Formats: sequence, C-alpha cells, structure tokens
Amino acid sequence: MNIKLIDIPKIENILGNIAVIENDVLPFEVKRVYYLYDIPSSANRGGHSHIKLQQVLIAISGSFDVILKDGISEKTITLNKPDKGLLIRNNIWRELENFSSGAVCLVLASTIYNEEDYIRDFDEFLKSKSNGN
Ligand code: TYD
Repeated sequence: MNIKLIDIPKIENILGNIAVIENDVLPFEVKRVYYLYDIPSSANRGGHSHIKLQQVLIAISGSFDVILKDGISEKTITLNKPDKGLLIRNNIWRELENFSSGAVCLVLASTIYNEEDYIRDFDEFLKSKSNGN
C-alpha cells in the first residue's frame, strides 16, 4: 500500500518547537480542520472510507494507531510525533484505535463535511474497490 508520511517543517528551539503547515507541504488545499480529543483508550474510531476526501492526520499530542485497508492489503501506522502527518488518500478504509491518555488527533481535510462522501460499510467499500475505485 502506498502510504505517505509527510514531514512537517519545524523550527526547533530549546524553549520549545514550532511546526508549521503551509499549503505547499500538503498535496491538497485545506478546506476543513478538526481534531479528536478526550478519546477513551477503548475507543475504535474511523471505520469508513471517503469517496473523494483526502486528509492528513497528525498526533498533535500522545499517540494512536491508524489501520489502513485498500481492499487487498492492510497496514498499521502508529502516530506519535507532532511533526509527522499521515496522508490518507480517498478510497482507503481507516480505523483509529489504541489512543493514549491525552491524545489529540488533528485532521486537515480537503473538503468540507459531507456525509454522502462516506462509505461506512466495509462490504460496500470492498465492492466499490472491485468496481475500480
Ligand atoms: P466521523 O467522521 O464518523 O468520526 P470518526 O471517523 O472520527 O470516528 O464523525 C462522527 C460524527 O460527527 C458523525 O455523526 C459526523 C459528525 N461530523 C460532523 O458533523 N462534521 C465533521 O466535520 C466531522 C468530522 C464529523
């Protein structure tokens, strides 16, 4: 599976670091920013794919696992660094789990919220993949 971890440029300083995301760092223009927080360690989130939306996930604080499925293979990526962004392209199934205490997942998305862009049923996802998506 073609997984891309984006290095987020940072300004390091003994007094603390700054990570900066300008549009040239990302493969799309950001239309929406949201973040997951106060997540119970037992929570399994995600469980869907997107028809068009692409997004970048960043563990701004703490850590969590992202399981990616393309209908053929599966990969688990642990995000635990505020200067690494995981690009999830469209038509990839994702599940998020194993959240550490205090974890915050920042999401930069290529479109505004649209429930019609979601596929929330795994069999439907597999069917869409076999139709060439
Ligand atoms: P969802 O994307 O399914 O969350 P996750 O993948 O993190 O488990 O969203 C959960 C609920 O929140 C769902 O009812 C849709 C709603 N929601 C919005 O209304 N706007 C948004 O921008 C997002 C991300 C979710």
